[in-house]
Amino acid sequence: MVKIAFNSALAQKAPGKDGESLMAEKDPEAASVYATESSTGRCLLTLLGLAFILTGLIVGGACVYRYFTPKKLYHGAMHFSEIDNDLVPMDVEAREPYYLPRIDEELEIHESVAIINVPVPRFGEGDPAYILHDFRRKLTAYLDLSLRACFVIPLNTSVVMPPQDLMDLFMQLMSGSYKTYLVHEDLVVTERIDDLGPLGYYIFNLCDGKDTYRMQRRSEILGIQKRSVEDCFTIRHFENKFVTDTKICKA
Ligand SMILES: *[C@@H]1O[C@H](CO)[C@@H](O)[C@H](O)[C@H]1NC(C)=O
Repeated sequence: MVKIAFNSALAQKAPGKDGESLMAEKDPEAASVYATESSTGRCLLTLLGLAFILTGLIVGGACVYRYFTPKKLYHGAMHFSEIDNDLVPMDVEAREPYYLPRIDEELEIHESVAIINVPVPRFGEGDPAYILHDFRRKLTAYLDLSLRACFVIPLNTSVVMPPQDLMDLFMQLMSGSYKTYLVHEDLVVTERIDDLGPLGYYIFNLCDGKDTYRMQRRSEILGIQKRSVEDCFTIRHFENKFVTDTKICKA
């Protein structure tokens, strides 16, 4: 394309003063036809060139944008009271939120999957983690970043808001601090999972290469065998309007 434009520009310039005056003397009409044709051609070429440059800019811009802008993450924080749930709502209102412990989270949504990044808490206990809720597979996976291990349990839809509602919640959190209460959850590791394939693409991606275990709610386990020494850790997070303290014990 560049070459053509260059050639036609040359072709126009080349006849120069002599060529043009010669032609004009020989056949004035032909010369004027040549002139209008060439100016239309030049115009088209210029437009084409501009279109090319514009396309390049747009495509290039899109690439740069995609490459350099991080994925869309929603950030949210909640202050919570550690006092027993039943007493809390009134009590929390009465207190300044800034003296309460705080949980920060980052939320990423892919279709029917919500991925929550829980950083190391600045106050209080809890491991940093990635928590993945797969609404299509109806599974939740906790990747504990301190232990570098994954823990999988059926998704509890009465606790975890669906992706659209989660996004709305994070939108609300952006506009101010939120005071809430803490709910405890007691989970027990039941077995090791060797084949991650059936857990779906997203959990596979999250947990591939890490020790992965299945869990159950302690209340669901028949004949609770409370061991004297249990290996437990907690992850504090929210995917609703309250903070959940998830205690996971390796039986
Ligand atoms: C979901 O979570 C709630 C609150 O922790 C609990 O009462 C309920 O049993 C859970 N449901 C399932 C199916 O685990």
